[in-house]
Amino acid sequence: MTIAVIGTGFVGVVTAAVYASFGHKVFGLDIDQKKINKLKKSQVPFHEPQLEDLLKETQKKNHLSFTTSYQEAIQSADLIIVAVGTPSTIDGGVDLKYVFACAESLAPYLKSEAVVVVKSTVPPGTLDLVRDKIKSRTKTKFNLASLPEFLREGSAVNDTLHPDRIVIGAENQTTFELLGELHAPLKAPIVRVRPESAQMAKYAANAYLAMRITFINQVADICEKSGADIEEVISAIGYDKRIGAHYWYPGPGYGGSCFPKDVKELAHFFKQMGKTDNLFVKINQLNSHRINLLLTDYGRKVGGFKDKQILVLGLSFKPNTDDLREAPSTKFIPQLIKLRAQIIAFDPVVKQKTAQAVFGQYLESGSLIIEDELDDLTNSADAIFLLTEWSELISLDYSRFRNGTKPQWLFDIRNRLNPVQVRKWGFKYQGIGRQG
Ligand SMILES: NC(=O)c1ccc[n+]([C@@H]2O[C@H](COP(=O)([O-])OP(=O)(O)OC[C@H]3O[C@@H](n4cnc5c(N)ncnc54)[C@H](O)[C@@H]3O)[C@@H](O)[C@H]2O)c1
Repeated sequence: MTIAVIGTGFVGVVTAAVYASFGHKVFGLDIDQKKINKLKKSQVPFHEPQLEDLLKETQKKNHLSFTTSYQEAIQSADLIIVAVGTPSTIDGGVDLKYVFACAESLAPYLKSEAVVVVKSTVPPGTLDLVRDKIKSRTKTKFNLASLPEFLREGSAVNDTLHPDRIVIGAENQTTFELLGELHAPLKAPIVRVRPESAQMAKYAANAYLAMRITFINQVADICEKSGADIEEVISAIGYDKRIGAHYWYPGPGYGGSCFPKDVKELAHFFKQMGKTDNLFVKINQLNSHRINLLLTDYGRKVGGFKDKQILVLGLSFKPNTDDLREAPSTKFIPQLIKLRAQIIAFDPVVKQKTAQAVFGQYLESGSLIIEDELDDLTNSADAIFLLTEWSELISLDYSRFRNGTKPQWLFDIRNRLNPVQVRKWGFKYQGIGRQG
């Protein structure tokens, strides 16, 4: 099969490389020339484990190539996968301009009976709009389908090779069969549904996971004030098969490129239906306010952040990625600086260059310093925030950051440290909903 994947971001590159590894001829297409130049040399423009090896392997076999030319990628493609970004609009709706731009750009080169698949997260009804855009530019016959993506950054290659399920939303049997055949090597359950259900399944899955995070944070807040310990509560409720022991992450709230926008977009759908009071509005509100509330509490503990030196460990929104989109660090750091703290930060992969786009003004003003090496970090910080649970950060000997008899707080925002050990090192410990 010849496949074109449009958009070579986190989702697109992984998708293109995995399909190429099945032996298909795959084109990765993007309008970002710099990105394509890198990918042509098998350089991954972001941090994602296993991806570089897969790119090298598939490019060496000539199964995968990258281009900025729509004509080159589309003219021979049996299958065209749209994997461009779908950011939120200011009012919480979804901005489909990149998806529509793809539809218009690919239309003139479409091969007859090609299948155009939307992998980007889009609301139900989007295929009809895409159809109109394509039809306005070509008379060629084509099919449409929806193929939502469920991979997680940081384990994207593994998730794509070993998915829990593949959801195909198609309009006819031929398309179901073609997409079924494409995914057969994965040996995963295939759920065949109408396109609207496939699209809604993606939103529902993300909103449910975001809700679990919000729920356990609320319970953790009650624990902290009531003598209960959230980790003990989780171990107790997890035995209930209706609830399960997995995916309980008390912490700073959800972040990343998907959960925040997908929850907001569901809230927006409701609003369009005239129902402003809904679950998704509340989840979004609670999550948006969480970091400020945590900092208010921690500020009281440290006697205010003014002129305090704070060590921030972990900048990416989760381990094994350098993605800063909606990362807790992007809220913690500006707020701490607003409260006049001085920040020194470290992340295993997010270095000055990656951080510049997000933290540029703070780096330039000197209120934020990002150190490249753990060894360069100060031991005189008044407080340490463990913000991202990178394995190298949870296995650290934190005694290296102790400074004599100076009172120092360790805020374990991910509940990954042993409170007893932390106190033995001489820190004051505060986890999320923990008693220690
Ligand atoms: N990142 C994730 O973990 C993840 C997981 C599941 C689903 N999704 C969804 O997948 C979609 C893509 O997400 P992402 O994180 O890979 O996005 P991204 O922002 O990393 O990448 C999008 C790419 O599309 C390119 N692009 C934009 N307009 C284009 C055009 N007209 N023609 C060609 N290329 C164009 C951009 O240059 C960019 O490289 C989104 O809808 C997102 O919600 C993302």
